[in-house]
Amino acid sequence: MKTGFTVFLAAFIALGLSWCGLVYAPIQQLGGTKQTVVLQSSDKWPMQRAGEATLGLQVYRANGCAACHTVQIRQTGVVNTLSITDLGVHKAADFKDFITSLMVVPELTKYSNSIVGSLNQWNGSVPKLLFSGEASAVVSLLGDKLKAVGVKTEARVVATGADIARGWGLRQSVAADYLYDAPVQLGSLRAGPDLANLGVRAPDVNWQLLHLYAPRSVVKNSTMPAFRYLFSVRKIGAQPAPDALGLPKEFAPAAGFEVVPTAEAGQLAAYLTSLKANVPLYEAPFTPVTATK
Ligand code: HEC
Repeated sequence: MKTGFTVFLAAFIALGLSWCGLVYAPIQQLGGTKQTVVLQSSDKWPMQRAGEATLGLQVYRANGCAACHTVQIRQTGVVNTLSITDLGVHKAADFKDFITSLMVVPELTKYSNSIVGSLNQWNGSVPKLLFSGEASAVVSLLGDKLKAVGVKTEARVVATGADIARGWGLRQSVAADYLYDAPVQLGSLRAGPDLANLGVRAPDVNWQLLHLYAPRSVVKNSTMPAFRYLFSVRKIGAQPAPDALGLPKEFAPAAGFEVVPTAEAGQLAAYLTSLKANVPLYEAPFTPVTATK
């Protein structure tokens, strides 16, 4: 009897701890995720997707797109960068010597090799990246010094990492991005590109439809499977349908026929073009391209 109770207690504790780790802790961390605001603006993030796009998430799920695609951008960190945007009255030729003369401040000496080195063989074209690194003090100090002599600079916060370098997005994905998605389709295998910021890269619904019907009609040698069953091929009536795909000859149906997207295809394309992760958030800051000062 004594052992029976011990076994029960051991099992109870083991299962209880797993429950805490797998259910309770994640709910504590993410269960209260709310709409947040876009950094340095009063816009809310994220916004509910339009109805078509919400239905499209279910089409995305039903067709197993998540087997080959992720919808999550990762980053390793952020760097502060300083670029010259306007040299003012200065000349590129003697600018290097001027920058060298600024390097006497202890905060800058440490970085002088990379800063001065970046000006080697510079022909004066702007914007010119002068510094990129974690030290934000360098950016503000150098920026102030250059401003004082009439040189215009631009300071930016830029996310770094392989996903960012591939052009998949400008910042990492955060929990709030998925607030209105049920179920969340993060995906874990990348046979194809990450789609978290696809709506910015490929905003054209028509392109999405062509790509779904015949990936190779828009991407040369694409290895993505064609999703033909999301379209119907039918005889052209008195008038061609307004939403019939404009396919290149090789992929076009027989003469007198046209390819028309089904409702699912339209919803999926609406979902795909709604995928955007292009605003800076508190948890994932970066300087948007338009916000130059
Ligand atoms: C067997 C793996 C596989 C499956 C399943 C798959 N894809 Fe792809 N997908 C790829 C590959 C590989 C590419 C890259 C080649 C290309 O762009 O066509 C790609 C590219 C894409 C692109 C272009 C991305 C870009 O950045 O240009 C989109 C959009 C896309 N897939 C959507 C989908 C959707 C929606 C589904 C589900 C209906 C799906 N994929 C299912 C493999 C797959």
